[in-house]
Amino acid sequence: MFKLNVSLGERSYPIYVSTDFSDLGKALSQAEIGKKTVLVTDENVNLYHSDECEKALTVSGFEVHKLVIEAGEKSKNLDTVRRIYDFMIDLKLERNSTIIALGGGVVGDITGFAAATFLRGINFIQIPTTLLAQADSSVGGKVGVDFRGAKNIIGAFYQPKLVYVNVNTLKTLPLREIKAGMAEVVKHGIIMDSEFFDYIDYNTNKIFNFDESVLQYITKMNCTIKGKVVEKDEKESGLRAILNFGHTIGHAIESLSNFTMLHGECVSIGMVGAFKLAEKLGMVSKEATQKVVNVLCNIGLPVNAAGMSANDIYEQMFYDKKIKNNKLVFVLPKRIGEVVLCEVSDRELIKSVLDELV
Ligand code: NAD
Ligand code: GLY
Repeated sequence: MFKLNVSLGERSYPIYVSTDFSDLGKALSQAEIGKKTVLVTDENVNLYHSDECEKALTVSGFEVHKLVIEAGEKSKNLDTVRRIYDFMIDLKLERNSTIIALGGGVVGDITGFAAATFLRGINFIQIPTTLLAQADSSVGGKVGVDFRGAKNIIGAFYQPKLVYVNVNTLKTLPLREIKAGMAEVVKHGIIMDSEFFDYIDYNTNKIFNFDESVLQYITKMNCTIKGKVVEKDEKESGLRAILNFGHTIGHAIESLSNFTMLHGECVSIGMVGAFKLAEKLGMVSKEATQKVVNVLCNIGLPVNAAGMSANDIYEQMFYDKKIKNNKLVFVLPKRIGEVVLCEVSDRELIKSVLDELV
């Protein structure tokens, strides 16, 4: 096991990266929290990982009360939060009690929101079990739920007390989910670290073969890159927006697919769109775009939205959170390893990119 740190003053926290749950109890014991814990997980993760996790906690003297919620985005709502509140009130949880999210981004986001709001904030711990959650959502403190069809519209910034990653939990994750999570991993290379991008390229097969040292290394790099951005701009007043690389076009495609496409699949197409747009603006070479397309294809991610309407994608993009004065703001590459925020108002230029994507 090794340990990283996210430095945010009194909200700083460790990220432990391991290949099993054997050090989980020790990690929690160092966090100066009470012994009473609620473990929130979903019905799929419960089948594979909750027994081992619960055992690791109870042998270290923690009292564990498990709540299993329905899997998937459909449960990321206030009804589920209410279920968690009821559960915690019945257990008479106190301020030093702890709520633990064992699962993917859905479990993490809902549980974190319950943690942020119950008793004005109780201890929150993330044990991410999807690649997306291990690479991205468990770090940085964005928590929340969907409301009236709008994704993540109710939420807070609430940092966990600690994050514990067991990379071997990925072995039970469906292949399509692993590929989708890889989009966020590739994103981190593109926004900040070209060497990491090349590492992903060379080691794609090892990732899919669950090579423990490669999985631990990519977790280290993902958490370091995301942690660095969050340390500089915790509440997204500027720099943090670069984490949304590929998301302007990606989110539009995700909504238009009625969420039948996975987030990472849409981000993959959005990243290709961002490169094509940057290419047309003279910011990157055709070769750089092709390199990114090759890496994404090698992973098995989609690189176009064949069958969708370019016009529909364009209109849908105006629901993006980064819209300012009705102008689209894109995160665009300057090269693999560096991106910038750009307002682009040339409708025909954007449409020509979308035409190439569909
Ligand atoms: P998810 O939590 O729905 O998990 C995907 C599927 O995999 C689910 O069916 C789940 O039950 C199953 N699963 C999880 N771990 C498993 C395992 N180890 N073995 C077998 N099955 C497993 O989806 P996700 O992709 O992890 O997260 C998506 C959510 O994350 C979205 O709601 C998105 O808004 C949110 N998100 C949040 C942030 C953030 O910063 N907070 C960042 C990105 C995404
Ligand atoms: N996933 C984007 C962010 O955490 O800011």
